[in-house]
Amino acid sequence: MVKDNEELRFFTPTTEDGPLYPPEPIPRRADLTNGGKAKGELLILMGVIHDHRRTPVSGAIVEIWQSDSNGYYDHPRARGSDALDEYWKIERSDLDSNFRYFGSVETDTNGIYWFQTIIPLSYRVFGFDRAAHIHMKVWSKRNGVLTTEVYFPGDDNESNRDVDRVFQSRQQKSDLIVTFTNYHEQMLGGVPELDSAKYCRRDIFFP
Ligand SMILES: [Fe+2]
Repeated sequence: MVKDNEELRFFTPTTEDGPLYPPEPIPRRADLTNGGKAKGELLILMGVIHDHRRTPVSGAIVEIWQSDSNGYYDHPRARGSDALDEYWKIERSDLDSNFRYFGSVETDTNGIYWFQTIIPLSYRVFGFDRAAHIHMKVWSKRNGVLTTEVYFPGDDNESNRDVDRVFQSRQQKSDLIVTFTNYHEQMLGGVPELDSAKYCRRDIFFP
């Protein structure tokens, strides 16, 4: 059955993987910051994965990949002679040795996932300025695969999005932007309490 636009608005907008999806299996790890040692502003990204009936999905695999506090990705296409873009010409030594640039977790019985990461920096690729974002991909046996992105509030991020042609081409743009919250406001089971972290909740709704 074809869903009308009103119904579609409830589903999480999807994006493509982009050129920097990790080429290797993404390890299970919720903490990408080496216990908070990574450079950048600590962020707890958390939420609940839902199916099309808005029922929480347990056992789904949630992957994230992102840039560090310098706007660099850990990807072969971003380094040395394999770099596809002038901006990406970095070496492994330029990466933050305390940051794990991608990770995956499995949702618990309540469909909850969380990551301890940092707020990424905007970056430039193929001549495009990309506003700060985290890539997400959710794998569910029953619901399929959903790829999306998370963008952040703040004046700088907003003005970066204004000139980010990739972001501007997205459907349901406003649904890709999260708001910051705190641990007590959006308490989800199992999510760590960190005074120094910003929190954002990103629930995902499969179509
Ligand atoms: Fe990206």
